[in-house]
Amino acid sequence: MSGSARRSWQRCAACGHEMDELARETRCPACSGLLEIVHAAPATSTGQLKQQFAAASVTAQGAAASGVWRFQEIVLPTATAPVSWPEGNTPLLERALVQQWAACPRLALKHEGMNPTGSFKDRGMTVGVTQAVRVGATAVACASTGNTSASLAAYAAQAGLPALVFVPSGGIAMGKLAQSLAYGARTLLVRGDFDDCLRLVEQAHRELGVYLLNSINPFRLEGQKTIVLELLLQLGWESPDWIAVPAGNLGNTAAFGKALREARALGLISRVPRIASVQAAGAAPFATAFAEDFATRHRVRAETVATAIKIGDPASWDRAVRAIRETNGVVLAVSDAEILEAKAVIDASGVGCEPASAASVAGVRKLVAAGTIGPDERVVAVLTGHVLKDPGMLLRYHQEMDPPPARANRPVEIEADLRDVARVLDLRTR
Ligand code: F0G
Repeated sequence: MSGSARRSWQRCAACGHEMDELARETRCPACSGLLEIVHAAPATSTGQLKQQFAAASVTAQGAAASGVWRFQEIVLPTATAPVSWPEGNTPLLERALVQQWAACPRLALKHEGMNPTGSFKDRGMTVGVTQAVRVGATAVACASTGNTSASLAAYAAQAGLPALVFVPSGGIAMGKLAQSLAYGARTLLVRGDFDDCLRLVEQAHRELGVYLLNSINPFRLEGQKTIVLELLLQLGWESPDWIAVPAGNLGNTAAFGKALREARALGLISRVPRIASVQAAGAAPFATAFAEDFATRHRVRAETVATAIKIGDPASWDRAVRAIRETNGVVLAVSDAEILEAKAVIDASGVGCEPASAASVAGVRKLVAAGTIGPDERVVAVLTGHVLKDPGMLLRYHQEMDPPPARANRPVEIEADLRDVARVLDLRTR
């Protein structure tokens, strides 16, 4: 635990207005811009920091095994009692089938679906809910395409705080809705899309006083930075050439940019990887803007099978533009067919992920085919959610689509008779 001589504060990324670390607003009171957390430089040397991060035993009390609080010194140094599951410490996997499909022999998968509620959201939520407790929030709320709500519900339950979640009615995957109900969040099925939900929850925050825990809350991003910090630690602080990430509301793209900026400034890495931010083609306002050098902020009515990233008006736009510019990154869109094919390959490798997660690998394949990613380059693709998040989509893909997709694994119904088993195995019965 840090002795907390260190100081952190909030600053508006748009106008520079500064606020106390414990201010409850999630937007700048002067200009409504989004806030960011600024940390005074740590007193420790780069070498000491690396040692500290590698040793789990020095992490925060009650969160000894957390892959987020291991980095407390550059995440939220002043927190004393984290609300932790614990979370993080997710594997970095190499699977030949996926590498071959993407034509990327040095591709590794950072599986964030291995977090306690099955998505990367737990990394931001442990920090966000810890902050909610620190500022004395009496209730917490978020709008969600499903994973944020599942995670908020679990962490709020652990903190003993009432949670209110806004999700598009009929628009989120079954596993995620089930989690939100199970963990006890008051769940509002909004007749509208995610963008409507976000507008409504921001209004509830302003006018009804609930503490807002969408990724516009800068403390969420501090936690999500640890996806990058942890993969760098796993690679011995040798930067990969690329980090590919699925993009919806752009919280992760923004958090990754901040993590890399800070890691470079602290001397943890000497070279900054390029971020590849991958959207679904039917929800790709950021990819469209990238192609125009971010001259305009676009909004669309989103449509994609990857419901987690079905977002038409991403909130963390400016922060994400900065992340792409600073890392010489790229933004691209992949079709639903490409997402589903990538997912089928990731699933068939035994790893598995939810549809939105597969966008990262589909994006890598596309960038390799275009020659943007070279054949010798080292790439980490982030898988953001677990395969069981969206069983409805899986069953449609494998059982119902007509004609069946090339990689469909149709189940076979049989009589309780060995001859049927033999027939399926194409063996002769004696
Ligand atoms: N992948 C998954 C599985 C997600 O749930 C999300 C976002 C993303 C990727 C995109 O991340 O928004 O930081 O660009 N899900 C949010 C939610 C919006 O409500 O669960 P982003």
